[in-house]
Amino acid sequence: MSDTQDPASGDRGRTVHGEAANAGHRVLAPDDAEVEAYLEQALHAPPPSRIEAEAPEQPDTVAVLDFGSQFAQLIARRVRELNVYSELLPHDTPMAELERRGVRAVILSGGPSSVYDADAPRADPALWSGRLPVLGICYGLQLMAHELGGEVLPSAKREYGPATVSVTDASGLFDGIEREQPVWMSHGDSIVRPPEGFRATAQTDSTPFAGLADEGRNLYGIQFHPEVVHTRIGREVLRNFVVGIAGLRQTWTPSNLVETTVAEIRERVGAGHVICALSGGVDSAVAATLVHRAIGDQLTCIYVDHGLMRKRESELLRATFAEHLGMRLVMVDARERFLRRLAGVEDPEQKRRIIGDEFIRVFEEEAARLGTIDFLTQGTLYPDVIESTTAETKTAQKIKTHHNVGGLPSDLRFQLIEPLRYLFKDEVRAVGIELGLPEAMVQRQPFPGPGLAIRIIGEVTGERLDTLREADWIVIDEIKAAGLYRSLWQSFAILTPVRSVGVMGDGRTYANVVAVRAVTSDDGMTADWARLPYEVLAKISSRIVNEVPGVNRVVYDISSKPPATIEWE
Ligand code: XMP
Repeated sequence: MSDTQDPASGDRGRTVHGEAANAGHRVLAPDDAEVEAYLEQALHAPPPSRIEAEAPEQPDTVAVLDFGSQFAQLIARRVRELNVYSELLPHDTPMAELERRGVRAVILSGGPSSVYDADAPRADPALWSGRLPVLGICYGLQLMAHELGGEVLPSAKREYGPATVSVTDASGLFDGIEREQPVWMSHGDSIVRPPEGFRATAQTDSTPFAGLADEGRNLYGIQFHPEVVHTRIGREVLRNFVVGIAGLRQTWTPSNLVETTVAEIRERVGAGHVICALSGGVDSAVAATLVHRAIGDQLTCIYVDHGLMRKRESELLRATFAEHLGMRLVMVDARERFLRRLAGVEDPEQKRRIIGDEFIRVFEEEAARLGTIDFLTQGTLYPDVIESTTAETKTAQKIKTHHNVGGLPSDLRFQLIEPLRYLFKDEVRAVGIELGLPEAMVQRQPFPGPGLAIRIIGEVTGERLDTLREADWIVIDEIKAAGLYRSLWQSFAILTPVRSVGVMGDGRTYANVVAVRAVTSDDGMTADWARLPYEVLAKISSRIVNEVPGVNRVVYDISSKPPATIEWE
């Protein structure tokens, strides 16, 4: 049994796009998730067409076959950090499909199963033929050994956590690597006898076959996890496999990516017209900029200002997209409309529903004004494409709550252009920089689609929005001044429904309590409250109380997620 810490992830579902979900874990990219979801809903009549032609022109590709490890996605990211394109695919993807996709090397991920489980995930036996170089990691290695006649048994001692590996053959996978190395282990089963033709290349105290190789058949394996940072030689081992053994070219760079994507978009769009909803988030910003690079004024961006945005958001978007990049940008001032519909509403879910519904209405009206539109651009990311059942269920529920709308015009027929469909978030940022987008846009913290409405507890009014906007601006300003902005997942202010007594000058006040929330997180799924320095908190607090009318008290939220969520509503 390997990766026993993993959540069970054998049960795969479908992505929000109705395509098979083939990976177990999703990294949330919430800054644009909302807008995307609104538009998905608008597109439900009829379903959007996503065409295969969008796949990148086959660069040298490494397939990571997912056996359920929580690290499977990370392996693909690590390979891409070597500037080699990598895709995460289901463990049973047939060899023919791998070849059709231009795969030139295969990595088998770890996973929570034992090779002796009745429903143990398997791979296409054609993988053992030697046609493609294959690297098995953890369960992937055990499966390879088991299928080829070796012996795998439950170990007397389960190995989990840091270990020291001794390299016994410094060639191939371990080329240029010194003998003793710290690595990360996570397995219950172990190989006790390798299959014929294999020899040991590394060992630990409790695992005599921590590395195996059969050069004749192009098969390699390691028991430890090269993708996690604790394994210091991880990157070298992956490079030795991908570049050294498999001989793949390192051409997956942001500039190549921009070049090929731009060419593809140009060819696909022809003389057509494209629209894109800008949300202020990184993903839609980068997607729009790529499309603009390809087709210039055939793209129109629509920005719906629902009045729930951060301070100076509209200015920032206008300056970046209309002035700096010269895009056609329609800015819709819908603030009144949203406020009117939100009047008297306190329930968070109802707020979300109203905002989603109104967003679609405004977007449709604007799209209709533009005449014939052929394509809609979205900033869908790779993790959205490969997301797991759990995350998918979450998203599906979210979409339901947000988009309970009817009566959409049936002539809203766009084809989708999703230029970021193959990218991880960090790659999107790199592409954004390559395209000349300002750092301030590319490195933004996530911001929820319903915006400040879910950070005002209780009714949303123009006045309360102004109060929160000012307080929020101060939080961000001070976090940036302290050089902490990029190390935090999010930092923001919340306007609580609580009022408390204070003194100001000689007078007694009875005013609003603002809460400050700052969290660290890798993916938004779990989070911890940030240990901000007292001086930073002190500065934030005194500035808010002094500069924001109607606030006399500031508190700091010290709750982790779970059990608390990041947003208060
Ligand atoms: P929670 O509050 O669930 O948030 O811990 C996790 C991440 O998701 C963002 N978030 C949202 N994003 N629409 C969005 O587009 C929403 O309704 C929404 N609610 C939360 C939140 O900002 C955090 O990054």
